[in-house]
Amino acid sequence: MPKKIYRGIPEREVTDEKTYLARRILLKSLGLGALGYFTSNLLANSEGLGKKDWMAEKFRLINKSDVSDLFNPTPFKYVTSYNNFYEFGSDKSDPKKYAKNFITDPWSVAVKGECNKPGTFDLEDIIKPHQLEERIYRFRCVEAWSMVVPWVGFPLADFIKRFEPRSSAKYLRFETLYDPDQMPGQRTPFSAIQYPYVEGLRIDEAVNELAFLAVGLYGKLMPNQNGAPLRLVIPWKYGFKSIKSIVKVEFVRRQPETTWVNSNPREYGFYSNVNPEVDHPRWSQATERRLPSTIFSPNIRPTQIYNGYGPQVAHLYRGMNLKNFF
Ligand code: MTE
Repeated sequence: MPKKIYRGIPEREVTDEKTYLARRILLKSLGLGALGYFTSNLLANSEGLGKKDWMAEKFRLINKSDVSDLFNPTPFKYVTSYNNFYEFGSDKSDPKKYAKNFITDPWSVAVKGECNKPGTFDLEDIIKPHQLEERIYRFRCVEAWSMVVPWVGFPLADFIKRFEPRSSAKYLRFETLYDPDQMPGQRTPFSAIQYPYVEGLRIDEAVNELAFLAVGLYGKLMPNQNGAPLRLVIPWKYGFKSIKSIVKVEFVRRQPETTWVNSNPREYGFYSNVNPEVDHPRWSQATERRLPSTIFSPNIRPTQIYNGYGPQVAHLYRGMNLKNFF
């Protein structure tokens, strides 16, 4: 059975009953179960899998969220065309345009540092041991927009276990590919950030049940603009913690220096937990624009502490002053 981890999604994010019933009837008439929606999406898109037959097989066996059709994920179109991926440009529309030919096969990930089983692994070896599952998470960017995304992937905790971290491993450090030939953003002289993009988590955050390594969304392989072939998804933190196109994971003793903190430590913190009470110095974090959002229908909602995942993560920060550790 897939895990149920969607506690706390408020009523307004749930498809109204009429739409839900209509969708069920439609699926039934197409001969698809309630969960067939994502499978059919995948089959329609399977040419994108190329020579990765092993990947196609993994995707056929996704543990579907048994509640996936009860929620209202942000339409695919918005999830894949309104992106932050500075390596491909700083406009929201740049990543889709400029990551089109990004080469993600072959791909390898180096696992290093304070663990008993370090090494460099092909993507296949990274993914194969895991049962893929779907998780529908809210995703809140520090810029005050948000989405609901049906990710496909596996728990970061299960990945971590394989490398047998030592007790000296207090943090995890992640790095994105550095390849200026492919990534035009890495060639611009006036970039807001330095490359390679680096992110980090405390080890107890990294093994929390919600921390996720994603290889796809909407039942499809991860689109390049969303961080193919492997990215982090940390749903209770601002989106910039969810590092894309990972090539290195390191178990380290000390809190790593991370990209956005380095670029402006007054504005971006290491923890970056979603918190409506701690504003960004230049804007409020009390509310968010849920995509799709237009001038006429901005779809503004109140932001929730830990993006609504307090029951699963608040204990990680007990006793910490969240204004200091922002
Ligand atoms: N990872 C890398 N390597 N480069 C980036 O620019 N942007 C971050 C995060 N991960 C970013 C990244 C930010 S600010 C956000 S909000 C999310 O990716 C956006 O993810 P999405 O485009 O899939 O919505």
